[in-house]
Amino acid sequence: MSAIKPDLKRITTNTLQKMKVNGEKISMLTAYDFSFAGLIDAAGIDVILVGDSASNVVAGHETTLPITLDQMIYHAASVIRGARRSLVVVDMPFGSYQSNSDIALASAIRIMKETGAHAIKLEGGEEVIDSVKRIIGAGIPVMAHLGLTPQSIYKFGTYNVRAKEEVEANKLKNDAQLLETVGCFALVLEKIPATLAKEVSQSLQIPTIGIGAGKYCDGQVLVMHDMLGLNTEFKPRFLRQYLNLHEQATNAVKQYIGDVKSNDFPNDAESY
Ligand code: KIV
Repeated sequence: MSAIKPDLKRITTNTLQKMKVNGEKISMLTAYDFSFAGLIDAAGIDVILVGDSASNVVAGHETTLPITLDQMIYHAASVIRGARRSLVVVDMPFGSYQSNSDIALASAIRIMKETGAHAIKLEGGEEVIDSVKRIIGAGIPVMAHLGLTPQSIYKFGTYNVRAKEEVEANKLKNDAQLLETVGCFALVLEKIPATLAKEVSQSLQIPTIGIGAGKYCDGQVLVMHDMLGLNTEFKPRFLRQYLNLHEQATNAVKQYIGDVKSNDFPNDAESY
């Protein structure tokens, strides 16, 4: 029996390209496990990003730097098992592609081979272009990421808005063109002025996906834990919180504790 489920049409990089041409916005959310991947896939999300933000929201690190390639592969393989329709993109973690293009290609191949993902994402422009070319040359679709690139947080020093000044904005525009020229299929723009994101989005053929980059991007991405309100401390201006899951889950857990303590749970119907 074929493993391919013909009833569901998988979103591909070509689908995203067509969406840009047709002016249909692209929805992207992060997921790190089977259950949430299944939930957001069934809800109709276009792209699932297995973000290295797992380092923050799953592992509790302060930055995205500590997460390893093996850990990203574990998360990505779990997500792939839950995602039937969406395009699954996996972040290449810090250290897995910056040193040279041989290492970058080997890391990308491991992600594709060991997880079944459909594409990878990496941060940076000109400085990583050799790696981007080698990965695309091996047939692996690459989503690029410019603006606030969290793997460079110690170079930036803060999580403030990037590319407000002309020099940095010009570098970002040049990098965006370069990444498109070498064949990236999409570009994440993080925390840059909306006017700059608009200019970049209009100048590129490939779709841009914004986070804190305004409404003119071709799509939007949020970290799932943030938009569901699981994380109460992170409240940047760009974040729209759709649920207060922290409060709702806390109430559920408190009720459960109360039911156990009062001997209300389990009752006869819940027993064998
Ligand atoms: O790791 C991540 O979640 C990301 C998004 C914020 C774009 O890179």
